[in-house]
Amino acid sequence: MSEATLILVKPDGVARGLTGEILRRIEAKGYVVTGLRMLEADRELLAAHYAEHEGKPFYEPLIEFMSSGPTVAIRAEGHRVIEGFRSLAGTTDPSTAAPGTIRGDLGRDWGLKVQQNLVHGSDSVESAERELGLWFS
Ligand code: RTP
Ligand code: MG
Repeated sequence: MSEATLILVKPDGVARGLTGEILRRIEAKGYVVTGLRMLEADRELLAAHYAEHEGKPFYEPLIEFMSSGPTVAIRAEGHRVIEGFRSLAGTTDPSTAAPGTIRGDLGRDWGLKVQQNLVHGSDSVESAERELGLWFS
């Protein structure tokens, strides 16, 4: 039985020309890309996507950052892909994300109000179903 996750190449990743490199890592790991779209996310979509963070100090900067340019949304499939992609992505803070991970190899701290860390990955089966519905409806 296969599992699916939502991966986003955030606007910093698209702007830096890293979409191909990130897709390469997903595919090289063995996961299958079953959905792909580029879009400029509007506030409504981002508010729904990041509802769990409403009220946190980084919320407004996060929505602003995610609205700053196109995002690439990816549906990836494979056994344990949710956990596997979170591991490929690395931890939230790119300064300390492990080398070998997307955030650790390709990301850095730019001294801004929110961490620009290149990718998003769903963190549970429930989040994945909800988020895939939002980005691929
Ligand atoms: P994501 O949801 O994007 O996959 O990232 P995550 O689980 O690793 O991190 P999460 O806690 O869900 O936070 C969502 C995004 O908000 C930005 N953030 N910046 N203190 C900060 O500057 C800060 N904290 C969170 C990051 O872009 C993070 O990925
Ligand atoms: Mg998260």
